[in-house]
Amino acid sequence: HPVEPCTLALFGGLGDLALRKLFPALYQLDRAGLLPSDTRILALGRETGDAAGRVAAIGAHLRRHVPAGELEEGAVQRFLARLDYLAMDFLEPEAYPALADKLGPLMRLIAYFATPASVYGAICAGLAANGLADERTRVVLEKPIGADLESSHAVNDAVAAHFPENRTYRIDHYLGKETVQNLIALRFANSLFETQWNQHHISHVEITVAEQVGIEGRWGYFDQAGQLRDMIQNHLLQLLCLIAMDPPSDLSADSIRDEKVKVLKALAPIAPEQLGQQVVRGQYVAGSILGQPVPGYLEEDNANTHSDTETFVALRAEIRNWRWSGVPFYLRTGKRMPQKLSQIVLHFKEPPHHIFAPEQRPLINNRLVIRLQPDEGISLQVMTKEQGLDKGMQLRSDPLQLSFSNTYRSARIPDAYERLLLEVMRGKQNLFVRKDEIEHAWKWCDQLIAGWRQQGDAPRPYAAGTWGPTASIALITRDGRSWYGDL
Ligand code: BG6
Repeated sequence: HPVEPCTLALFGGLGDLALRKLFPALYQLDRAGLLPSDTRILALGRETGDAAGRVAAIGAHLRRHVPAGELEEGAVQRFLARLDYLAMDFLEPEAYPALADKLGPLMRLIAYFATPASVYGAICAGLAANGLADERTRVVLEKPIGADLESSHAVNDAVAAHFPENRTYRIDHYLGKETVQNLIALRFANSLFETQWNQHHISHVEITVAEQVGIEGRWGYFDQAGQLRDMIQNHLLQLLCLIAMDPPSDLSADSIRDEKVKVLKALAPIAPEQLGQQVVRGQYVAGSILGQPVPGYLEEDNANTHSDTETFVALRAEIRNWRWSGVPFYLRTGKRMPQKLSQIVLHFKEPPHHIFAPEQRPLINNRLVIRLQPDEGISLQVMTKEQGLDKGMQLRSDPLQLSFSNTYRSARIPDAYERLLLEVMRGKQNLFVRKDEIEHAWKWCDQLIAGWRQQGDAPRPYAAGTWGPTASIALITRDGRSWYGDL
């Protein structure tokens, strides 16, 4: 799968995602020499104004978002020379002939939708009506695709009316993260783990995606969504699938996605009367992060003073199949937590028989920690013996550690979007989410949301800069466990 030269039409080309993530990622690919020389990028936005001025503005953002040490003037100039801009109203069918003119003759078109999903259908129709939807075109869809199962059907159907599944690339940027890729290598390139990877040996699994940031000026979007739709429905469930899935028979896109879908289908629904025990919603109130006071969710810019949208979710999920029966998966994610931390922890069961006296062994079992960010790495907690003649058989727990920054000292870790953009240009769908995955994930989240509604469940407050409401600690201590690594 070589990287093909293409024209990338970026809908929402002056939006936050494009400016913060997509242009910097494309620049990095260009700087690394990975973009074929005739690759062109056309940013599309509502904002009028001359194209050269808009391209210059994109350049200014680029310089702000790329770390200074990675800005090379020659590379920046080469990148900006690939860029063009066209103002258009995406909902206006009459705007598309001008787009077709601007694009000119095409070998390959990648239409990237970084707009609200409600516009995807109109864009697809506009492309199709102007001869831009044939086999040369791939479409890339940003999340969130809908706000529930029904609306996600509507979006997927509107796209599918013009583009078949094999030319539709649904982004979940967590799948492009280096360590998430490594998870697949760890599980399926080592014979060591697979025999242990089940309910006979694993007692429970934790998946934490904690963010330090708050709403970052996105209150309007976020308040409609909430943390369950914004993070659990996609990123955390994708991580859960990669941990829980059976080994695929090969690395092809459909083999992997078939296995992920089986996991989603096996997720046990949580009945409304169980929600109180199994799910905790939270909303941050004013607090402090790194010693700096920060406002509460309801005091953010453009916030309403009343909202029961959650900014934190912790839950206890179960997967009903032979491999995982009886193994709880504790998931938690929140905004305004003490640190940015994404990690997966697999806790192994106690040895079946102890030959060491209780006072000789710490109360720790084997534990595999997969750190997605920051300090990407993998560590396996094992028991060793204290050194020294006077220590007898006193045991201690030590990590076998793999730190990617130590292993690859000088190499920068590529951003998820770099990998994903490259994969679209290669025409490889492994790291993209299939329609049925999105829909099963919605189905599971919908029943939680319906349950909350039915129970009139209001989010519990937690101070910004803490690990969430105390109920989220009770959620796991009730089972005699604790969240790993909370400071
Ligand atoms: C996005 C969510 O998908 O992921 C954001 O919409 C969230 O709310 C972001 O902040 C987190 O991504 P990352 O890569 O910074 O962990």
